[in-house]
Amino acid sequence: METTTKKIQQEQNLNTKIQATLDTIYNIPAMPDIVSEALRLLNNKNTSNQQLIDIISRDQSFVAKVLAVANSPIYTLRREVSTLDFAIMVLGYTEIRHIVVVISFLESFKNKNDKYFDQNAFWLHSLLTASIGKNLAEDLKYQKSGEVFVAGFLHDFGISIIHRYFKNSYMAIYDMVMNKNVAYPVAEKIILGMTHSTIAKYLMEKWNFPAAIKTAATYHHNPSFAEENDEMAAIIHVADFLAKKIKINESVWDKSSEIEEGVYNILNITEERLKEILDEYEKKFTNHSELLGFLN
Ligand SMILES: [Fe+2]
Ligand SMILES: [Fe+2]
Repeated sequence: METTTKKIQQEQNLNTKIQATLDTIYNIPAMPDIVSEALRLLNNKNTSNQQLIDIISRDQSFVAKVLAVANSPIYTLRREVSTLDFAIMVLGYTEIRHIVVVISFLESFKNKNDKYFDQNAFWLHSLLTASIGKNLAEDLKYQKSGEVFVAGFLHDFGISIIHRYFKNSYMAIYDMVMNKNVAYPVAEKIILGMTHSTIAKYLMEKWNFPAAIKTAATYHHNPSFAEENDEMAAIIHVADFLAKKIKINESVWDKSSEIEEGVYNILNITEERLKEILDEYEKKFTNHSELLGFLN
């Protein structure tokens, strides 16, 4: 009897937490203009080159960042790209649109560092997952490989939202992981009633994100559960695994993980072949600090 009462009490507590979390998510302000403009670009495949150049050119530091990404090791271009026109010519219009989306997010959601959250480590992990995911998608001939870059970049977006809008909860989660040795997603569930993946899902729904990107954020820890776009979720899951393995910093959310069994089936690849590819990437991406240039 006593255990039943305790169970009901626990469920009520969990429901209250979930409701409080949802209320906070729904109260998060609308997206910054630059981000919604960038998303519109992502959704609207008919934007002209000139419209894209106009949007980017409004801010010179933005232009510089786009060029820095184009010249970064993410793309192995043989020639230095020094103008936007040339960048669009070399990388293609679609690729530049994805870069614009990523940079506008970075610009809008980069918080101040504090002792609980290392911004550079977080965004570098995001960028590394994006770059590994993009390579993997190309090697596995996955059709939506362009979107993988954005999906990889935003897969842990929920973590930065928790840090920004649920500050006290973030500190409580941090404390639980560090001092009580609880796994990060488990601590999130105890404190907030849901994980960063679910938080990202609600927010991406509210902000009308493309479906495949939302699926990747929602299921990057358990891609087998995705009912659609499971390939995208699996690619991001694997990319996240490798990005964690190439440790950037000892971050609380960045503990090592394992590849989910179902991934081999979803991606139609053997465990051995995937391991071979990842070993190769590990060498290629170890010098990830070069990616840091445009984070600052
Ligand atoms: Fe995650
Ligand atoms: Fe991650």
